[in-house]
Amino acid sequence: MSYLFLSLLNEDMKKLTIKHIVELHEDYTQFSEEEKKLFRLAKKASEHAHVPYSHFQVGAAVLMENGQVYSGSNQENAAYPSGLCAERVTLSYAGANSPNVAVKGIAVIAQYNGDFVKELVAPCGGCRQVMAEYEHKYNHDIKIYIMGKGDRVMVVNTVKDLLPFGFSGDVFDSENASPQELRNV
Ligand code: THU
Repeated sequence: MSYLFLSLLNEDMKKLTIKHIVELHEDYTQFSEEEKKLFRLAKKASEHAHVPYSHFQVGAAVLMENGQVYSGSNQENAAYPSGLCAERVTLSYAGANSPNVAVKGIAVIAQYNGDFVKELVAPCGGCRQVMAEYEHKYNHDIKIYIMGKGDRVMVVNTVKDLLPFGFSGDVFDSENASPQELRNV
């Protein structure tokens, strides 16, 4: 969860401080068998990436509230913007196949030149937005496991820690921005 601290600087301006909570693990000892399985699946999925342009293979695995798991990888396209990130492929697949089950977690890992990358590769902005959509849809926090080479894992307990001030469909319900009103702008 992100914490917001509000301090009043003067009458006209308020300052917000946002705290992001991130856990860094150097090995898998703290993780459950279910989580370790998720990590294995994400690694395996990276082998199936279609990356003739970037050669950057990303694997993702999604854990659902009922224990079901889905995995996927980035799928590039000669028309570059038509390509999809691993996280989006996997979350969309999970959403399409288990439409009524909340997403509990997502693990992500990347390979370059045939080896897992040392850096912890954080999901891109677009994928954070897609994660936020599913967190919002089920009103259930999604844990994000950002994996690196060896047994390094960074854990974020909610998408809100990766995407503060995220945009959500809530605005469509507000009096000021209903879809009807937007159409009239
Ligand atoms: N990529 C992902 O799959 N996930 C991300 O969060 C960042 C980027 C993919 C997109 C593209 O196929 C390749 O990595 C290089 O950007």
